[in-house]
Amino acid sequence: MKKLQLLGNITPAQFLRDYWHKKPLLIKGAIPGFKPLLTLDQLLDAAAKNHVESRLVTQVDGQWDMRHGPLAELPPRTQREWTLLVQGVNLFDERADALLREFRFLPDARLDDLMVSYATDGGGVGPHFDSYDVFLLQAQGKRRWKISAQQDLSLVEGLPLKILSNFVAEEEFVLEAGDMLYLPPQYAHDGVAEGECMTYSIGFRSPSYQELGEAFLQFMADSIDLPGRYADPDLQPAKNPAEIPREMLANITEELNKVRFDEEDVTIFFGEYMSEPKHNVFFTPPAKPLTVGRFMEAAAKRGLKLSPKSLMLYRGKHVFINGESFAVSRADKVVLDVLANERRLDGATLAKASDDVLEALYTWYADGWIELA
Ligand code: SIN
Ligand code: CO
Repeated sequence: MKKLQLLGNITPAQFLRDYWHKKPLLIKGAIPGFKPLLTLDQLLDAAAKNHVESRLVTQVDGQWDMRHGPLAELPPRTQREWTLLVQGVNLFDERADALLREFRFLPDARLDDLMVSYATDGGGVGPHFDSYDVFLLQAQGKRRWKISAQQDLSLVEGLPLKILSNFVAEEEFVLEAGDMLYLPPQYAHDGVAEGECMTYSIGFRSPSYQELGEAFLQFMADSIDLPGRYADPDLQPAKNPAEIPREMLANITEELNKVRFDEEDVTIFFGEYMSEPKHNVFFTPPAKPLTVGRFMEAAAKRGLKLSPKSLMLYRGKHVFINGESFAVSRADKVVLDVLANERRLDGATLAKASDDVLEALYTWYADGWIELA
């Protein structure tokens, strides 16, 4: 793989070997001449919307406060020390989606979203740590980052946000537009705006095993098949009627031990789980959907692309899109793997699609999962 300016002129392999999960990396000029993708007004509009996740963090007389969106009213820009955070900007802005996809040297199943923060002078969310890796790209203005590998991650109690009790900075940098800082999980950091600024955070997903385990058991509940019903043809008279007979439990244990799962069950579960859109994601079906015939004509000419909201993954013959899974033939897989990896399909590849795939594509189009390119 080639060296990326985005990573400070090292290859993704070098980055993953030397920094990922291991140590911070400051990249001066990761995206030279970077200009913010959204104006402040566009960001404020987004924060006022119901389906957009946003937070307002303020510090008044040293007191931290946090409010969740939708945020119709915000402090004036002349007021110091406030921060607006808008999550999932990639879901509604194509250019933010394209920026997030610059990080596809990491698998889609790990990429989460692009969060945009706007702060007035002195604004920040306080010294804290995150449970996930993060790339912090300075989009506009300046922000001073203090970071620390400290092991003491104790938090101030009783606050509406996570603030480290004993933050001791070890390194300090001022990031300007186009600079980027990578931080591994659990790395203490504190970013303070120097004048008005905007920072973009490229965030990652790492589900907890508990969360996966609970979801997996629900998934298994829908797929287990245990025929038969409890029976006891050799039952003996009960001496202590309230006591559960040992033989009864032995029988039940034997039957429940027939619940088995293999790697394929895990594949289907995990693919469906990781491709499930977040609860606040709503697709926008086309206002006037084309008929199947017209759609196929237009798709052959213009090609198709996945909606920025669509999550599409695959493993082997299993293809996952927005929480649904399909087992597909080898020929169909060729076409669908292209759509998943490129997030678009040109007319030539589309010409190889079977009737089943074409039918699925039309349904996805009507649901707003894919669009004409
Ligand atoms: C911010 O952008 O203000 C905060 C990002 C972070 O510290 O994770
Ligand atoms: Co953070």
